[in-house]
Amino acid sequence: METVRLSEINSNTHFVQINLSDLLEQLGEDEVKNILSSFVCPLNADVEKFVKTKAVEFSRRGFSKRKLREHGIFDTKSNEYTVAAPLIAQLGKNYANGNNSLISGRDLLQMAMEKVKKVQNEVGGRFVYLECEEKPRLMEFYESNHFKIFGRRKLDRDETDIEGKYLLQYFTIL
Ligand SMILES: CC(C)(COP(=O)(O)OP(=O)(O)OC[C@H]1O[C@@H](n2cnc3c(N)ncnc32)[C@H](O)[C@@H]1OP(=O)(O)O)[C@@H](O)C(=O)NCCC(=O)NCCS
Repeated sequence: METVRLSEINSNTHFVQINLSDLLEQLGEDEVKNILSSFVCPLNADVEKFVKTKAVEFSRRGFSKRKLREHGIFDTKSNEYTVAAPLIAQLGKNYANGNNSLISGRDLLQMAMEKVKKVQNEVGGRFVYLECEEKPRLMEFYESNHFKIFGRRKLDRDETDIEGKYLLQYFTIL
């Protein structure tokens, strides 16, 4: 996988995706945590908390890379297919200093989907899924970006920053 050197980034001309493991390698944990501490997302406390307090740990332990599995297992008992797919999680813009106006949610989502597509080109798989709170603006956003609702999941006990009692589950085919 390509590595972006920070010195090669020209932030005036385009957006760049940076792999958190690469960033940790290049800058070290203290500097990365310092950068992430400037992320503000008042519309979604869970996203903000994840970026500020969990992202580095997840990256170190490889949690965020473990979601990928083969797809399509038929369960004869329930008469259903189980499809494992990568999860796009914690999608959110940084609302500090008006940074949210620099990129549209559609473009941000597109960047995430292109990343998943690249990985799936190598390892297989066609589906991607995500979970969101039952809020009309979020539902509108994902549905207008071709995601289809397929279920809802009850919140785990430790998911205390999420509003409501469950999350809606959406998928799309890449
Ligand atoms: C989801 C997101 C990436 C979409 O970006 P976008 O399409 O450019 O949309 P905007 O940021 O312009 O927001 C559009 C509207 O949705 C509202 N909205 C966005 N996220 C919301 C949320 N979590 N709860 C309630 N309203 C929300 C905004 O307030 C805005 O309302 P307005 O038009 O009345 O001002 C972006 O809104 C975001 O970062 N939201 C916060 C994080 C989040 O909730 N992520 C979803 C995780 S599943």
